[in-house]
Amino acid sequence: MTSFKQDVITGLAADAKYLSSRYFYDEIGDQIFQEIMAMPDYYLTRAEEEIFQLRKEDIFRALNFKTPFKLVELGAGDGLKTKILLRSFIEEKADFQYLPIDISSHVLDELAESLITELPQLEVIPMAMEYFEALEHLQNISNDPKLVLFLGSNIGNFPQGKAAGFLSSLAAKLQKGDKLLLGVDLKKEPAKILQAYSDQTGITARFNLNILARINRELGADFDLQNFEHYASYNPQSGECRSYLICRKAQEVHLEGVAQSIHFEEYESIHTEISKKYSPAELHRLAAETGFKVIEKFYDSKKQFSDVLLEKR
Ligand code: AVI
Repeated sequence: MTSFKQDVITGLAADAKYLSSRYFYDEIGDQIFQEIMAMPDYYLTRAEEEIFQLRKEDIFRALNFKTPFKLVELGAGDGLKTKILLRSFIEEKADFQYLPIDISSHVLDELAESLITELPQLEVIPMAMEYFEALEHLQNISNDPKLVLFLGSNIGNFPQGKAAGFLSSLAAKLQKGDKLLLGVDLKKEPAKILQAYSDQTGITARFNLNILARINRELGADFDLQNFEHYASYNPQSGECRSYLICRKAQEVHLEGVAQSIHFEEYESIHTEISKKYSPAELHRLAAETGFKVIEKFYDSKKQFSDVLLEKR
């Protein structure tokens, strides 16, 4: 049985049903996420882009790398924002190789292809794998100093309490002086956050529902998508924006090859995603407890988002 199938069965058999947001990203999910990033309500992308446009030279200077280095990006995606940094580093005559890592080989192929035409002088080594697998590889890549990019608030998607564990594992694979540029969405007016995750146009709803459509496509399930609706809520204390799929009426759902059906009560929910927001003080604590120190924090003009440059202690 595939781990996808096993995870779906386990999550939907739980008292409080859940599915991991990592399963959002099949080819269709990747496309819908592109639409999300282009939505005016989804301020995160524009904010991080502004940081890179305005502060790219300062980011490079703060790295203080004097020798060739490796630029490793975890969850590279379409690389649109990263290209701002790549171009700038090339203009600074930096000697580096770019190693984009993403779970989706489709996304990586497109990124590598676009870089051949846009930045032909750049040496690109794409690696299609999961974050944790990538961490294992990091140590073996070379002894050159590393800058790891983990952008776009991806750190916010770790299940409760797991972000620190991930950063500690990352720190353990790095050498003293290696850097991490961490893109983090900041706590702000709750209404603004909620709007980013429950847009009127229904794009985020489509993104969330695609996980059921994917289960239908890949695991031969019979989810009727009409019976589910997207719901997002934001807790200003924990900083967690949580997404759910709410079941509108009681029903049974079947998975191909699985005898036991999955029962849903009316208004039962499936928890699908956490998008956690941090305060600057929480970021300092997170860095300190995971083996990093904060070198510099870069903000957009509205202080909505921060790219924090951390150094392995
Ligand atoms: C990929 N990740 C950082 C996005 C986020 O903001 O949590 C995924 C997303 N989910 C709904 N909208 C965007």
